[in-house]
Amino acid sequence: MENPIPTPTQRRTTRTRNATATFLLALVLFLVERVVAPPGGGGGEWQLLHASIGISAMHMQLLPSDKVVMFDRTDFGPSNISLPDGRCRSDPADLAIPLDCTAHSVLLDLPSNALRPLTILSDTWCSSGALLPNGSLLQSGGFNDGDHSIRFFDSISGDPAADWQELPSYLTVRRWYASDQLLPDGRVLIVGGRRQFSYEFFPRQESAGGGGALIPFPFLEETRDGDSENNLYPFLHLLPDGTLFVFANTRAVILDVAGHQVLHRLPPIPDDVPRNYPSSGSSVLLPLRLTPGGTALPRPEVLICGGAPRGSYESALRRVFLPAATTCGRIGPVDPDPAWNVETMPIPRVMGDMVLLPTGDVLIVNGAAAGTAGWELAREPVMNPVLYSPGASAELRFTVLNGSNIPRLYHSTALLDPYGRVLVGGSNPHVGYSFTNVTYPTELSLEAFHPPYLAVARPWVVAVGAAAVGYGEVVAVRFESSVGWAGAGSVEVVAMAPAFATHAVGMNQRAVVLPVGRVTQVGPFAYEAEAAAPPSPEVAPPGYYLWFVVHAGLPSQGVWVRIRPAP
Ligand SMILES: *[C@@H]1O[C@H](CO)[C@@H](O)[C@H](O)[C@H]1NC(C)=O
Ligand SMILES: *[C@@H]1O[C@H](CO)[C@@H](O)[C@H](O)[C@H]1NC(C)=O
Ligand SMILES: *[C@@H]1O[C@H](CO)[C@@H](O)[C@H](O)[C@H]1NC(C)=O
Ligand SMILES: *[C@@H]1O[C@H](CO)[C@@H](O)[C@H](O)[C@H]1NC(C)=O
Repeated sequence: MENPIPTPTQRRTTRTRNATATFLLALVLFLVERVVAPPGGGGGEWQLLHASIGISAMHMQLLPSDKVVMFDRTDFGPSNISLPDGRCRSDPADLAIPLDCTAHSVLLDLPSNALRPLTILSDTWCSSGALLPNGSLLQSGGFNDGDHSIRFFDSISGDPAADWQELPSYLTVRRWYASDQLLPDGRVLIVGGRRQFSYEFFPRQESAGGGGALIPFPFLEETRDGDSENNLYPFLHLLPDGTLFVFANTRAVILDVAGHQVLHRLPPIPDDVPRNYPSSGSSVLLPLRLTPGGTALPRPEVLICGGAPRGSYESALRRVFLPAATTCGRIGPVDPDPAWNVETMPIPRVMGDMVLLPTGDVLIVNGAAAGTAGWELAREPVMNPVLYSPGASAELRFTVLNGSNIPRLYHSTALLDPYGRVLVGGSNPHVGYSFTNVTYPTELSLEAFHPPYLAVARPWVVAVGAAAVGYGEVVAVRFESSVGWAGAGSVEVVAMAPAFATHAVGMNQRAVVLPVGRVTQVGPFAYEAEAAAPPSPEVAPPGYYLWFVVHAGLPSQGVWVRIRPAP
């Protein structure tokens, strides 16, 4: 299938030719979009990118080569895409079949929409990941023969046959349902997992006291609700002062990662609704806003939406599917007196994915209105995404957008791509691939949701002054915008870290609104903005970010810029 989104080169040529026509059309569309759509009146469009990618996209990571690596689990039985070159995996530890000649991971090339099967050997079920500063994906843990594994996937070296590299016994303990956070020094923190009340680092690091590489973290034991747990895949957000926000079940702490100390305990979320697996809500760190010339750290705010009331898991096991949570909690974790502000979503949701958009809004997509995460434990798929606008007045805070017609329940995923689309895939509430005689068949399809901004003429980044920048360095960002010029104050440059998406969690997702200095007009519809790279690795850990220009609220495509490690 031809990719509906033009490549930057195609797009630029067309745009220059049609600049005036585009301008008029844009103006009309812009006004129509603004005037006709009433509050909560929808917008957005769904496109089917692939009816089948061969696997069910349980885990996804966007890579700096404009590729997306996706995988499910190796013991699901045969997938719908063969391993390359007639290869097979013979793994006696696999629960489904000992000989499997199909792939459980694929690589999607975004510009061409082409897929390539990859070879993964150990079981990746319910694993975690983080993009390393060098552009390789670190992928950690899983189930069975994969629960102590780490794996690497590199696509930026340009090897057309690049494949997974696996280190089977790297992790200190089994990490199944753990969460990963990239740290300011480029290490990755791997937190928790089923019955693991500890964390560890990649690269593995023996602690000074001789206690080995494992750091106890009793908070995870304290927040566990018996067999239903409700604290797996903890939400991790690196705060701009270098401390770590950790949320599990209904509670949050601020962790000093270097000193292994819990510095603060925040008040519990007021409605007492568990938010972590299997009562899966979702969470983002709202965009960190830097001001030109400012030296103060940006005030971080964490948003958590959806989940399932206590008892939902036990109830769903008895085939009684309780309504999912309708609430979101928002908190400034380093405020002098942190307090949750509770807001109500227009639709209840469990297993939603929260995706930061370059506009600063948050897309809440996928999931169900009843039940919990787990095999066969949810009902009433929620088809409509909801847009959360952090700065809007209370009545405009949530907007219900156009729905998909594909249910995305347990094991579905969503992430932002460089075109500003949201890729949506996966959904498999069954133990294996199951397509017939089930309520919600295993989904092999991949869709792209086009937020409303993709329906209008957007700015286009023509060039970024440097492919790699140091902390605080000023970079020229050249862009075209045919939407009526709204003044220098209407230009933002936003650096967005690509997420590792699984189980309603977008690990390492991050948006930093960079300070913009001078903006100069350099041609008809062409401008150059001076943007400063993030000031420190605490605000933005080193590595690859997508830089978007947002003019008058409309985002461009994203361009990859690497932030070099601090010297
Ligand atoms: C999406 O929503 C808008 C506004 O509510 C509507 O005009 C449009 O037709 C919808 N698009 C699709 C593809 O459903
Ligand atoms: C994938 O599904 C199609 C359609 O059902 C089938 O023809 C094809 O053989 C399957 N491929 C594999 C590798 O299972
Ligand atoms: C990035 O670092 C990891 C861990 O050290 C290494 O395995 C991987 O090969 C590196 N990737 C590149 C592209 O150099
Ligand atoms: C469909 O599922 C039902 C309930 O699980 C089962 O009783 C029935 O035998 C199944 N039918 C087929 C054709 O597999």
